[in-house]
Amino acid sequence: MRFSPIQFLAATLTFETAALAQRTMGFIGCSMAENVAQGYVAIGGQKMWGPYGTGGAVVQSWTNTNSASWQAFDRQAQQNGKPTEVWVQICIFAQNGVNYNEVKQLIANARQHAAPDAKIYITGQPLYDPGQSCFLAGANGPELTESMAQQAAADATQNVTYPGPFRLRNGEVQDGCHANSAGQQSLGRQAQGYFG
Ligand SMILES: *[C@@H]1O[C@H](CO)[C@@H](O)[C@H](O)[C@H]1NC(C)=O
Repeated sequence: MRFSPIQFLAATLTFETAALAQRTMGFIGCSMAENVAQGYVAIGGQKMWGPYGTGGAVVQSWTNTNSASWQAFDRQAQQNGKPTEVWVQICIFAQNGVNYNEVKQLIANARQHAAPDAKIYITGQPLYDPGQSCFLAGANGPELTESMAQQAAADATQNVTYPGPFRLRNGEVQDGCHANSAGQQSLGRQAQGYFG
């Protein structure tokens, strides 16, 4: 197969555009953030990183700025450039929970690992329709993470933005916590609405 010069040029430009299309928004969180990222990529979201293996990475995986989770974040930042926006998802296991000092540590670490003056968004993990919740986070766990996110956004010393809650509806949950593929896409659309 032979290419004309025009075809060759077009192929080269397509390749270069793909190489330059880096994602400028990072995120931290657990498998529930991964569910959002999976859906965001599935619906064609362009700005935020795709999933990068954050399963199980609840709050305490991110409080130490040198943790394996932050090292994984830094590898994404090497590939995409340091993110100019970071979404911090507060995600918990019932037995560990979360306190506000931990939330502030996550925000400080996000600033440290992102580009200078990066915009920081913060949310809880997704909320559910009445009658459902996330067994991993425990009874009222998702609501606790939401209230922590809102507390941080109301705290002028933190300079973070709360865009609103993520929600999983009935029929969007696969195992008593995580999103099924319809739920992932729903979460992805919510992320696109909040972040672009
Ligand atoms: C607050 O965050 C914005 C980005 O959202 C940044 O441009 C600004 O410098 C920050 N302000 C302070 C006082 O750190």
